[in-house]
Amino acid sequence: MSNKKQQVSRRQFLNYTLTGVGGFMAAGLLVSPLRMAIDPVLKHSSSGDFVNVGISVDEINDTPQRIDWTVEQVDGWYKSEPSRSAWVYKDENGDVVALSPICTHLGCVVSWEGSDQHPDHFYCPCHNGLYTKDGVNVPGTPPLAPLPVYEQEIRDGILFLGNPIEREGA
Ligand code: FES
Repeated sequence: MSNKKQQVSRRQFLNYTLTGVGGFMAAGLLVSPLRMAIDPVLKHSSSGDFVNVGISVDEINDTPQRIDWTVEQVDGWYKSEPSRSAWVYKDENGDVVALSPICTHLGCVVSWEGSDQHPDHFYCPCHNGLYTKDGVNVPGTPPLAPLPVYEQEIRDGILFLGNPIEREGA
């Protein structure tokens, strides 16, 4: 039996090191696009996620009121709680309507009766955008589509909202 130690030459050491580092870098380059390709398949559909927005149906009347809430968002290791808002009211049938406050022109925030010249309308101050109470854009003003309507559920008299759904333009 030979006691001769096996020596690693400088050249072999460099080869092993560079191969290892190169493999590590190649794996890093592959993981990101692979994750992007597979991620949507693994994710839960958020269409079924309804959030308690902290208001009971009894507190909602026929005048639009703004409500704000936060949602929990997890992106990889990063957790955040972005805020959401809606204008909610009951229509003439007593059904709850929840509109997104984001103007469909360029994304400013609309207000109910935000302009003295346009009572009973949602008003966008950025470019004088107007929407009727049901969120439909007024023709001749900059927005070309109605305000999105939130998906909603009522559980034990409490309003839960899902995603805002875009609508066709007026
Ligand atoms: S962003 Fe609302 S009218 Fe332009």
